[in-house]
Amino acid sequence: MSKPYDRPVTTYSLSKQAPNRAAADALVVGVVSSPDGPTPAPGAEVIAETYGRDFRAVVKKLDISGAPGTVAKLPAAGYVKAGLVLFVGLGDNPDDPEAVRRAAGVAARSLGAIDTVALALPASTPELIKAAAEGFELGGYSFSTYKTIDEPERPASVIVLTELARLSGATKALAAAEALAIARNRTRDWVNTPPGDFTPATFAEAVIATNRKRRGGRIAIRVWDEKQLLAQGFGGIVGVGQGSDNPPRLVQLTYKPIGTQKPKAKLAFVGKGITFDSGGLSIKPAGSMAWMKSDMAGAAAVVNAIFTIADLGLPVQITAFAPMAENMINGHATRPGDVLNMYGGKTVEVLNTDAEGRLVLADALALAVKGRPDAIVDVATLTGACVQALGDRIAGLMGNDQSLIERVAAAGAAAGEPSWHLPIPDEMGEKVRGNSKIADLAQHNSERWGGALYAAAFLREFVGKVPWAHLDIAGPSYNEKGPYGYTPTAATGTTVATLVELAASFAD
Ligand code: BES
Ligand code: ZN
Ligand code: ZN
Repeated sequence: MSKPYDRPVTTYSLSKQAPNRAAADALVVGVVSSPDGPTPAPGAEVIAETYGRDFRAVVKKLDISGAPGTVAKLPAAGYVKAGLVLFVGLGDNPDDPEAVRRAAGVAARSLGAIDTVALALPASTPELIKAAAEGFELGGYSFSTYKTIDEPERPASVIVLTELARLSGATKALAAAEALAIARNRTRDWVNTPPGDFTPATFAEAVIATNRKRRGGRIAIRVWDEKQLLAQGFGGIVGVGQGSDNPPRLVQLTYKPIGTQKPKAKLAFVGKGITFDSGGLSIKPAGSMAWMKSDMAGAAAVVNAIFTIADLGLPVQITAFAPMAENMINGHATRPGDVLNMYGGKTVEVLNTDAEGRLVLADALALAVKGRPDAIVDVATLTGACVQALGDRIAGLMGNDQSLIERVAAAGAAAGEPSWHLPIPDEMGEKVRGNSKIADLAQHNSERWGGALYAAAFLREFVGKVPWAHLDIAGPSYNEKGPYGYTPTAATGTTVATLVELAASFAD
């Protein structure tokens, strides 16, 4: 089993020290691209003065334009107190938290075994302070559990330089950044862990073990095993899980704000937790199966989001549901043509066993509805069609309630996790309800086009009248290419931040 991502080895603090006097081994200096050429970012202006006339020559020689992702490391040569200076590009909008988060991430990836780092990045508001610390912790992430060589060293201490250093809003922002970055990195760890070591049972155990080590708001956990799932009629989860020797689980987590205060809202999160998706009897080609350990990224996100919301003590009641199954093939595997009796009573004809996500989600959504939440948000690596439509950095956003959809989109934008609203056309709903000759609903559409929309139309059948939004994260959950900003190769940890931001929006 993997060592869970417990806490950063790095300590974060705030200081009012001027960048040129900061006592650290390395000083990170934000650089903005402007019509007059690269200039130090707000908060680092003093660096231009410290270098004096040399500043232009230095940035020119280093060929650092200030564009996002650009970076240059050089000996401080006595200009500043720190031994090393790292210039990092912020683009032309240094007030944008996401620009700061990304630049801090690039800086973290570029600094090797450095003991103490001072960040002279825009930090004039609590939001920017949070972005700098969060981006640095996220950018320094590596998954080395299975490497026999030593883990890359992380800085012992990171100092965010800010005028606000002693204000409580700034300290709170720093604590929030740490809680969120730890949760996002833990999500990455869970998704990166090999599927043979992360079965439904071990996933459920990891959730319980992580909760035990937490402090902050209390979370109650309930786990259904395969016998209880069968006995209580979770036909979707059982139907997907029965083809594997690793039986399915359903995990429910509940957080209620402490005290007598009434929660500002009651939200339910549902995440797809397929620990490996072979496709089942409708088996995937080898190339499409390579990263299918990431098919539980939605479940990992909702679990780590509720942990963070409880850590922060937000005054919102949350219930998170993580249906977990392994989509495999043995003699018990569900066949195309089989009919499943879903939780809540509907019958579904399975027509493609590779469209398994909607089956486990449907059961969990039907259970979530019974708790009468104000809103439900589900998160799922649901369709390749969504990746075709929006690429690998933007989530598809669908739902039955315009104001909730707008709220989720705004939360994602603020979190640096963009999404795009897609429709659920009426004809898709008609096909879901009309295309099975023998059951209530047809799980799969034989026509290829609009696969993300059909999947959403299917899910909609299980949410009744509750406002519901669905995030298809098949693209943004996993980065098959090189790192950028604070995003590493492989698991990205997407959507934890969106859900925390969403809960915060209900808390206001
Ligand atoms: N887990 C996949 C979706 C997926 C694809 C996630 C690519 C991440 C990257 C899902 O279970 C699946 O196989 N969907 C099928 C649906 C089809 C059979 C209707 C797909 O997208 O091909
Ligand atoms: Zn599948
Ligand atoms: Zn899947």
